[in-house]
Amino acid sequence: MSTMRIGVFDSGVGGLSVLRHLIAQLPTVEFVYLGDTARVPYGNKSAATIAHYAAQSASFLREKGVEMIVVACNTVSAAALDVVEAVAQVPVVGMIEPAARAAIELSQTKRIGVIGTRATIESRAYSLALYAHGGTTAMAVVEHACPLLVALAEEGWVAHPATYAIIEEYLRPLLEVEIDTLILGCTHFPLLADAIEHVAPVTLIDPGYWAARQVQRMVGVLSPSGRGHVLVPPVEYYVTDIPSNFAAVARQFLGFDIGQPHLVALDSIVPSS
Ligand code: DGL
Repeated sequence: MSTMRIGVFDSGVGGLSVLRHLIAQLPTVEFVYLGDTARVPYGNKSAATIAHYAAQSASFLREKGVEMIVVACNTVSAAALDVVEAVAQVPVVGMIEPAARAAIELSQTKRIGVIGTRATIESRAYSLALYAHGGTTAMAVVEHACPLLVALAEEGWVAHPATYAIIEEYLRPLLEVEIDTLILGCTHFPLLADAIEHVAPVTLIDPGYWAARQVQRMVGVLSPSGRGHVLVPPVEYYVTDIPSNFAAVARQFLGFDIGQPHLVALDSIVPSS
């Protein structure tokens, strides 16, 4: 039986927080990871620009022969999942739906907070998904854009005093309305989970974990005993620029060295659907 290949992409290092869960839950799969580090952040860009970048990433991964694509970016999942689906021509899993379902299931009070990039929050993708899946359940959803957290995660400032101060400022309006569950609606944010949990001791939903569970259900046949523990999982890493701290931040996310990622020029890709 040949090994399955799954493509994973994000604007930068954030998607590694999703890859970590995919590796843990799908140990017999090979992954191709693409971080569009030359153009990060996506979260402050228009839906049209995000869709354009996402189509190029999906096209690149399709050329790499992946059989499924995980959109390890909430911003792309919110703004351009349909574009990725059209280009990919393989099953696509985004971040929003699995996380929304998990939040509804795990929240006791159904007072749910969502933090993400400006593009994700302005799209209202999470509130729409939460209300759609919540049915007649009485629910309060509070969404808040936290764009600075992306830069802090890219910098690896996971426990810096400035990080705590910024998180406190961002989360105040959500804590005032007594949320009991918080969706980390940006794949960069799980890197800051300890600081976020310290400021907001509520149930944290990491969409990457729930998306990985969905992928596992779709792939079905793979069992965690398949390959056993390997020191360095089979992942090809591609980036559109090599920031000096990429390897260090990757080590923080994944807990092992990824070596030197390959450099690609997405600008030269004209996606065909
Ligand atoms: N990590 C991405 C997300 O999940 C995007 C962050 C950004 O590029 O602004 O939304």
